[in-house]
Formats: sequence, C-alpha cells, structure tokens
Amino acid sequence: LNNGVARTPPMGWNTWNTFGCNINETLIRQMADAIVSTGMRDLGYKYVVVDDCWFDPNRDAQGNLQAHPGRFPSGMKALGDYLHARGLLFGLYQVPREKTCAQYFGAWPGSTGSLGHEYQDARQFAAWGVDFLKYDWCSPWGTINDQVAGFALMRDALAATGRPIVYSINPNSIHEKTGPQRNWGDVANMWRTTEDITNSWNTGQTNGFPMGIQNIIDVTVPLASYAAPGAFNDQDMMVVGNGGMNDTEMRSHFALWSIMASPLIAGNDIRSANAATLAILRNQQLIAINQDPLGVQAVQVSNDGTRRVLAKRLANGDVAVALLNQGSSTTTVSTTASAIGKSGSSFTLRDAWTNATSTSTGAISASVPAHGTAVYRVSGGGTTNPPATFRLRSESSGR
Ligand code: GLA
Repeated sequence: LNNGVARTPPMGWNTWNTFGCNINETLIRQMADAIVSTGMRDLGYKYVVVDDCWFDPNRDAQGNLQAHPGRFPSGMKALGDYLHARGLLFGLYQVPREKTCAQYFGAWPGSTGSLGHEYQDARQFAAWGVDFLKYDWCSPWGTINDQVAGFALMRDALAATGRPIVYSINPNSIHEKTGPQRNWGDVANMWRTTEDITNSWNTGQTNGFPMGIQNIIDVTVPLASYAAPGAFNDQDMMVVGNGGMNDTEMRSHFALWSIMASPLIAGNDIRSANAATLAILRNQQLIAINQDPLGVQAVQVSNDGTRRVLAKRLANGDVAVALLNQGSSTTTVSTTASAIGKSGSSFTLRDAWTNATSTSTGAISASVPAHGTAVYRVSGGGTTNPPATFRLRSESSGR
C-alpha cells in the first residue's frame, strides 16, 4: 500500500502471544520501558501494539469506541502519549465485522467491531495518536470479495484521517471459504498469510490452527513476489522466548522471519526476557537483512524436503542466504553463488550468528543442526542476470 509508511517490514511488540486478553495500561507501559531499556527500540522495534480486549464492550451514546475503564483508566490518548514520549509508536486492534475475535469466541463480552463505524473509528484512532492498526477478519463469514470490500473500506477511512497509519490486516486467506491467497498489496501494508502461530516447530498443519514455524514458511515461500516496500507478507507475531522450542529452533524462527521480510513483531514478555532470547531478537545482522531498503522477500533456491535454501537480494548487491535443515539430525546444507544470482569468482561470506567472515570461490555451505538455519551475507562479485525467481517486479513483465 502506497501510504508512505512500512517501506521496510514493521518492527515492534504485540500483547497477544503472551497476554491474550489479560492486558492493562500498567503492563503496556512496563513493556514500553523494557523495549527502551533493552535497546530494542534503538534497533527498530518501535510499534507497541495493543491487540484484542483493550476496549469497553459498549460504545458510548454517540457510537464512539471507548477504552476499557478498569484496564485503561487513563484512556487511549494517554497511552499513545506515553509511547510517543519514549520514541515509540502506538498500535491498536479492531475488526471489520461485528465482533472482535475474542468477542466472537466468547472471551470478551459485547459487539464492538468497526462494521458501520469505519470512518468514525478511523477518526477516533487518529485522535488518539494511533500509528498502526491491526484489522482482523476473524470470522467464518463471507467471501474473498467481502473481505476485499471490508478491508478496503478501512484503508480509505484511515487515509481520510490524513495521519500516517500502518495498516495490518488478517484476511484469514487460507480458510476454505475465502479462497486462494491474494496479493493484498493494494489494500494493506502487511497481511497475515496463515492461521495463528503457536510455540511449535511443526504442527503438521498448513491450512488450519495452529501453525508451527516450518508450516508458516511452507505457506509463505510461494508468495515471495507479493513483497515490496509498503507491502509485506506477515508470518504472524513471533514466539521467540515463549517456550515450546529449543534455542536452535528459536534462532531459526527469527532468521527465517528476517530473510522472509516478515514484520518482526516480538510476542514475548520483554521485561523477563533471558539473555538467549535477547541475543536472538537483537541480532543486528539479521535485522539489517530484514530491514534492507530493497524490501524483497527471500525466494526459494532449493528444497529437497530436508535441506532448504532461501536467498534474499539486498540493496547494495549482496545476497543473504538461509541454509535450513528441516530434518531431525545434523546435516550439511549447500548452495552456490551462481544459484543465488551472483556472478564472479571470489566472495565474502559473513555468518549472521557468529559475525565470522570467510572467503569462497562459489561454494556456500554449512553443517546445520536439526531445525537450524545458518545465514550468510554474501558479498563480492556482481549480481548480473538474476534468475527469473530473483527478478523484482519492475524487472520482469506480467507480474
Ligand atoms: C485472531 C488473530 C490473533 C489475535 C486474536 C485476538 O486469532 O489471528 O493474532 O489478534 O485474534 O483475539
């Protein structure tokens, strides 16, 4: 979406994966302080997003949304001011239907979705200082055309406010009822590609709840050509630091979100994050690969079911390569410089985890533990005549 924001994948933190509906203004303020004190803000984690259950179950007499009086007694404008005063940005959750997801599933009373209130709610968000809206279909109702209409209506309502607001949607695109995956770049800055993430490497699901890390990659890899500045495939808020996976899998999760140009929205409790978790979330090489201004997603170079190679072109001509081991024991994962669109005879490989550099005449390989991902930033040589899968939209016809 060409609205001036999200020219690189949005980074931040979201309440849902750890706290669900159990949120309040003290928690959000503490988390904001932790995002600053851990240095995460300065690495780019700017959007603090308050997900479902922030609102009073009833609108006021004029039909305006209201903050939940017990949980957000200071109101949403005050919360936005708190975040802005600390150099952070403010995100909120709403839906295009009658009920938010928690209301739909009975976890929160009321029926306060934006349906019929789109322009009113957009003006309210702008008045509160909202910088990011997560807009979640969360309903078995409707067709893909209903979704396009509902999401486009809020896109236009946000634009009419004149405030730059990142527009993040969850179209539940893979639900049988709503048809195939769609390129939502005309509607939103980021769109979920799967059902909800869970603390698991692989749930065996690619079209239903809940989704593991590898399952989400399986669904999102074919959508690479949709990604562009202002428009990114969203692999969901991360679960780094939330248990259920070992450190190797947690590192893989972050490496894969980075190279896939997915938004990097942390979903753990930053206040109590341990050193291993912070080392992952603060990996500057991976963040730089994710935030590269070219704004493209990695494409798949090869996948034999066990060994999977993904490569992402970067603005300065470097190429980032992920060597993923999907198997259950350590194995060597390999590719070559020419397979990732590089020409020339001498390359420098910089390991994103160790920062070690090595030189290569073309071989790129690593011994990778089960469910691990090695990442190299490959520089040197040229990037001439990239294979078709590497071409940007502007370089190929008909896409
Ligand atoms: C859906 C979304 C989640 C979260 C919840 C809130 O499940 O996919 O990310 O926003 O709704 O109820």
